[in-house]
Amino acid sequence: MIVLKTAEELKKMRYAGLMTAKLLRYLGSKLEVNLSTLELNIMAEKWIAAHSLRSATLHYNGFPASICTSINDVVCHGIPKASDILQEGDIINIDVSLIANGYHGDTSKTFSIGRVHPEVANLVSRTKEALYRGIAAIQPGHRINVIGNAIQQYTQPFGYSIVRSLCGHGIGRKFHEEPMVLHAKERRKGVRMKVGMTFTIEPMINIGVSDVYIDPSDNWTVFTQDHKLSAQFEHTIAITETGVEILTLLEDS
Ligand code: MF3
Ligand code: CO
Ligand code: CO
Repeated sequence: MIVLKTAEELKKMRYAGLMTAKLLRYLGSKLEVNLSTLELNIMAEKWIAAHSLRSATLHYNGFPASICTSINDVVCHGIPKASDILQEGDIINIDVSLIANGYHGDTSKTFSIGRVHPEVANLVSRTKEALYRGIAAIQPGHRINVIGNAIQQYTQPFGYSIVRSLCGHGIGRKFHEEPMVLHAKERRKGVRMKVGMTFTIEPMINIGVSDVYIDPSDNWTVFTQDHKLSAQFEHTIAITETGVEILTLLEDS
């Protein structure tokens, strides 16, 4: 069942999205060589408490941290830890999901630490562009698979692959709602997009193969099968009469 949000609910979603985006910006400003992802998680926890919010990831299906931190060949769901220390040339995706007044916001970005290899810088900037191509494809009344089509059409010529086993999702009172939002071309066209729908788009784009595996030692961390790099960007969006509103966008980002 897809929950369409009322104008009142959309206001709450807007606030949740705004705060989620602000925390992501704050954490991004703290990144530096030698910082551990555990320290990043602690900063997030302090910020969340200071703003009287809640992390949606902490204890979600047993996830042990307030943010996800995914470095280099980690696709997503990386667990912050003291031994994950940022080095020049790394890329790190920080994924922030918050609950505010009962509604969820969810957004992530991949950041570069210092100077990164040009191939890596390209992966990051093109993955961001892929997200925006997906958003630009949205039109109320059209089927949701236009998003994955647009992302694949843009990323395929670079030789990249799109992770298919993880997708975007409806979001609202629940962290993960229907519909499923696929990031690549599919035979099934999916549902028609309707005013009041709120969902995430969060393409994970790999330099090498699209296959991934879950680290059996923690049952969370998703790695690329070939350990080549992966980047991801995520926004929470709402379908409105005029088209689409990005709920996790800050004016200056
Ligand atoms: N924020 C992730 C998403 O974009 C979900 C993380 S769930 C967790 O859907 F349990 F790994 F934190
Ligand atoms: Co999400
Ligand atoms: Co997320």
